Amino acid sequence: MAATAVEVEDLRKSYGAVQALRGVSFTVAEGEVFALLGPNGAGKTSTVEILEGFRRRDGGRASVLGFDPASGSRRLKEQMGIVLQTSGVDPYLTVAETVDMFRGYYPKPRPRDEVIRLVGLQDKRDSRVTKLSGGQRRRLDVAIALAGDPQLLFLDEPTTGFDPGARRNAWEVIKGLAGLGKTIFLTSHSMDEVQYLADRVVIIAAGKVVAEGTPDTLAGRQHASTVVRFRMPASVTLPEAIRGSARLEGNAVELETKDPTRTLYELTSWAVQAGIALEGLQVTRPSLEDIYLEITKEPEGAPA
Ligand SMILES: Nc1ncnc2c1ncn2[C@@H]1O[C@H](COP(=O)(O)OP(=O)(O)OP(=O)(O)O)[C@@H](O)[C@H]1O
Ligand SMILES: [Mg+2]
Repeated sequence: MAATAVEVEDLRKSYGAVQALRGVSFTVAEGEVFALLGPNGAGKTSTVEILEGFRRRDGGRASVLGFDPASGSRRLKEQMGIVLQTSGVDPYLTVAETVDMFRGYYPKPRPRDEVIRLVGLQDKRDSRVTKLSGGQRRRLDVAIALAGDPQLLFLDEPTTGFDPGARRNAWEVIKGLAGLGKTIFLTSHSMDEVQYLADRVVIIAAGKVVAEGTPDTLAGRQHASTVVRFRMPASVTLPEAIRGSARLEGNAVELETKDPTRTLYELTSWAVQAGIALEGLQVTRPSLEDIYLEITKEPEGAPA
């Protein structure tokens, strides 16, 4: 078993009357890409900022790389990289100056131009922060987090506001860092991002853990029904074996099945023998987003 990078047990945090964290427990293994998910206000940033040492917890245990994050240990800070949900950097510094400033805080920083290249800001190297677009600012945030060549990286919604190309690039950067054995602690509202990057997922809602697993097996996703869709000419009738599970709407057919191998065999062997083309044939499994929405669904009639 891999060593533990982050461990929290029964974590609690209130802001006045708001109970933001109501007993959250999970562990993150070293070298893992871990994603903390949940609706707005679920408590993700509160959790992350407690682990980063920016907020005090009210109760429970927390351990980050073997340190208590509340201790303010310098040795812990040197091994952590951080992308905050909202960050403040000096707007009058250039990209290169900003990266250099943060490199200065660490004993073994990454080379400046390598950091800038990793996030694709080489063309903006000498631009002031005020001149950057929203997505470029966010890339600079990621660059800052990488400046110290950290063992553990906290990324709170790192790709919010990125265009699709920049998002893909950021994913490749994160994959690359994971490949180097770094531990990545991610929060995100993009289920594609989580599906692509995360080894393991914890979902919190209203300050409590509601599900935990891998993106592929979360909440029994691997056992969920497969849906087969196609269109067929009005003049033909489906074979006996699959007729019972079919829903028809005009010439559109939808089959829901727990045994897709058999269902597809029955369907396609029948179609090939009868010389029927199954137009628009599609086989789909529930996406991580489908599962996520199901888990975090507000109960019927509950206040928003
Ligand atoms: N500094 C604060 N003062 C008062 N309440 C706060 C503070 N920070 C967070 N909260 C409250 O705590 C709860 C959890 O907030 P948090 O920022 O941890 O959620 P989140 O999961 O990161 O949400 P989002 O997806 O919107 O970023 C919310 O109800 C929020 O209003
Ligand atoms: Mg947040």
